[in-house]
Amino acid sequence: MGWNSWNKFGCNVSDKLIREIADAMVSSGMQAAGYQYVNIDDCWQVSRDSEGTIVADPQRFPNGIKNLADYVHGKGLRLGIYTDAGRMTCEKRPGSFEHEVQDAKTYASWGVDYVKVDWCNAEGLDPEIQYAKIRDALAQSGRPIVFSICNWGVKAPWRWGPVTGNLWRTTGDINDTYDRMSLIGFSQNGLEKFAGPGHWNDPDMLEVGNGGMNRDEYRTHLALWAILAAPLLAGNDLRTMNAETRELLTNSEVVAVDQDRKGVQGHRVWEEGPLEIWVKPVADGSRAVGLFNRGESALKMHLDSKLIDAQPSAQLRDLLDHKDLGSIKDSYTTEVPQHGVVMLRVSK
Ligand code: GAL
Repeated sequence: MGWNSWNKFGCNVSDKLIREIADAMVSSGMQAAGYQYVNIDDCWQVSRDSEGTIVADPQRFPNGIKNLADYVHGKGLRLGIYTDAGRMTCEKRPGSFEHEVQDAKTYASWGVDYVKVDWCNAEGLDPEIQYAKIRDALAQSGRPIVFSICNWGVKAPWRWGPVTGNLWRTTGDINDTYDRMSLIGFSQNGLEKFAGPGHWNDPDMLEVGNGGMNRDEYRTHLALWAILAAPLLAGNDLRTMNAETRELLTNSEVVAVDQDRKGVQGHRVWEEGPLEIWVKPVADGSRAVGLFNRGESALKMHLDSKLIDAQPSAQLRDLLDHKDLGSIKDSYTTEVPQHGVVMLRVSK
């Protein structure tokens, strides 16, 4: 869990922004809710020096990355950085190809805790081989560093990701629309067998709070990502977010489903037209259940106790709205808004 600069700020990153975001992560309650990594995406780097060491943009990061990492660590947070396994990043900054060991050492010496590694400008290279080189370089760097593989699902990274990195993107980029978010999120079904503690499918960073979706759509976004046990990397401006956004991102019952220690990625158990039911088993024996309506109007949905093998006495709790709903009996019926979700926990 953490934050990443790309979805909101693109190339407009700086020392000042990252410090302010770290401050806001603490003051907004995001840190207390479990968000920990402050990740700088593309565009922090400009060149390599005569020894080949990567150089941070001196205008945007005048204090250097080490100094920034110290500041972030001082808040009890962790710092993430970005590179590319190819020759250049997507924004044409130097990539790590043939600098894998050197870059890993540099990041470790700066106190970096997380590295996202992209796949632009990698023509003719094999992702499985290149990402393994980076894995080995990070292992030799002398510092534990979370390794985020970002090759957009090319060459089925779920097959080799578990022995290579800690998380791997499964698709191309998300954007701040319901169509794109839902296309990515609901297409994760079937990949659940590859995920588990320490190695996760990554359906991309959150757009919650960036303004392109309505309240029900953002609730669907967070609930679906939690049922998918997906990395939760907020992508909005934490300094200015409103109460609705803050309450959603820090919803402790939804976050608990995402972070559950059993680490099972949920999957779809039922669908009918635009309606889908997804289930994620959690460590205490209960199930998180998402009743999703991808349709263009509100619709009634029924959760049959037999569908999820629940006793009639199993207790239901609405996790987004923090409400106990009583026992499931034979089935539970509710209206789900257009593009919305009702997210439940069903007790043993
Ligand atoms: C893309 C990546 C995005 C972002 C961007 C930066 O390839 O999927 O998440 O990192 O590059 O240029």
